[in-house]
Amino acid sequence: MPPSAPDARTLTGCLLLVLLSVSPSIQAPAAKEESQITSLLQPQPSIGQKVQVSCVGRTVHPESGIMYWLANGTFVDQLYPNGTVKEEATEEKGSKLTRKLIFSPLMAQHLRTRFDCFITDPSGVFQKTIQWDRSNPKSCKS
Ligand SMILES: *[C@@H]1O[C@H](CO)[C@@H](O)[C@H](O)[C@H]1NC(C)=O
Ligand SMILES: *[C@@H]1O[C@H](CO)[C@@H](O)[C@H](O)[C@H]1NC(C)=O
Repeated sequence: MPPSAPDARTLTGCLLLVLLSVSPSIQAPAAKEESQITSLLQPQPSIGQKVQVSCVGRTVHPESGIMYWLANGTFVDQLYPNGTVKEEATEEKGSKLTRKLIFSPLMAQHLRTRFDCFITDPSGVFQKTIQWDRSNPKSCKS
């Protein structure tokens, strides 16, 4: 570090240091260049109802990136040949991918099965697991 750095830069550096030490877990905030799954995947476990869970994400390789769901590590239509759980086709809008998983209806046993949404593209494999929101069963948020 050259000690001759202008004051403004030194100040900015200090500010950054302060921010970093306050929140050590902050990473590059605008990581626009990475593929990722952006939806929370924390639906309400409304047993007996039709439940749709949308996986939304983006890929930096729209020409080849794909999105899919797995249930317990298996393709959904293999684990549920009768279609009580099924995935819809992927909707693609540029780099944005959306794919719905539909429970018709949601059953208690589904809560014991692991459902993962994946994006696979040349930059890697990106995964998020459904975490059923058991905190407030009466709330109406989606
Ligand atoms: C579909 O299959 C699951 C087990 O794979 C079973 O629990 C469920 O009752 C079946 N549903 C219908 C409508 O047959
Ligand atoms: C998924 O695995 C869990 C245990 O790891 C099991 O209880 C559950 O029945 C499995 N789901 C299906 C649909 O086989």
